Amino acid sequence: MTSTIDRAEAGPPHPGSEPRDWYTSTALLELERRRLLDRSWSLVGIAEEVAEPGAFLTATVGASPLVVVRGRDQVLRAFHNLCRHRGVPLLEGSGRCGRFLTCPYHQWSYELAGNLVRVPQAEIQFPGLDTSEWGLHPAAVGEWQGMVFANPDPGAPSLASSLGELGSRLDHFLSGPLVQVATVEYTVACNWKLLVENHVDVYHLWFVHSRSLGMYDHSQFHWELLGDNWWSLEPRKDPDAAGGFEWLDPAERDGIGAYLLFPNLMLVTTGHYFASYDATPLAPDLTRLILRVRSRPDADAEGLVASIRSFMAEDVTICERLQRGVSSSWFGLGPLAGSHERPIHAFHAALARACHG
Ligand code: FES
Repeated sequence: MTSTIDRAEAGPPHPGSEPRDWYTSTALLELERRRLLDRSWSLVGIAEEVAEPGAFLTATVGASPLVVVRGRDQVLRAFHNLCRHRGVPLLEGSGRCGRFLTCPYHQWSYELAGNLVRVPQAEIQFPGLDTSEWGLHPAAVGEWQGMVFANPDPGAPSLASSLGELGSRLDHFLSGPLVQVATVEYTVACNWKLLVENHVDVYHLWFVHSRSLGMYDHSQFHWELLGDNWWSLEPRKDPDAAGGFEWLDPAERDGIGAYLLFPNLMLVTTGHYFASYDATPLAPDLTRLILRVRSRPDADAEGLVASIRSFMAEDVTICERLQRGVSSSWFGLGPLAGSHERPIHAFHAALARACHG
């Protein structure tokens, strides 16, 4: 029998602050961005998008606009998407930029390796300018199973070490011929942490998802902490009549897996897809969620998205409702369920370590 986690044991994600502030404070969100989100790996695209020299994609990780570009030497690099002159983002969206990244404001140009190589009117307006000091600020980039990740901190631990055992456990699942078949962007009216807490909350499955996930046996839900990351798997009540990826073992093919790459990349697997949800805060009570779905090239992408949205919409609705409750000055965190909500405690503890040492 597991014991309830009382308030003292659970510990706050931000020691010394009121629970309401965890989800509503602009100052705490800035702290989370500076100490955690601007130093974390985020899924920003797929390898095919940046396969050729000059191909680029852009993304905002934490509060940092980044650009990922394939160099003429075939090396994939990431930079802060900020012109060193006055700070304009050099590129938007994704596509091809040719041989240079050129700022749209005053046309400073950078090589694909980030060096500043052209400043219009340099001799008169910037005499003595040492262009070698004004290259783009580097960021970190990594690839895993056809997906591209970026981290604003060039000195961050590698993507492989951040994925750790979670990555190695998912390698077999992702070893099949999967491609990205759908991307959907949402804006959710709640704090980013409520979405993560909901993702690792086993307790709500019986109630919020009684129909959409009713085919799974929640009483057999198994989860583990892998460092700051989280891994889980639960079986179906009856084998999946629709089959699934043939390279998976029956437990993976018939079950549903949910995972967290700390702090804000939520993942879900079934025998039919690999889904990721990146939660990026836009404000204390507003979060951008990007759903990406990987499956076979001939998958029914619309059907898969509809299936995912059937439970995702339930999560979004309850999290937006929860935001209204936690914004009250009367809000205080109650006792957490002994096993089924223990991952929330672990998430808070990891957040406190990252933000407050
Ligand atoms: Fe980029 Fe001026 S801001 S060239």
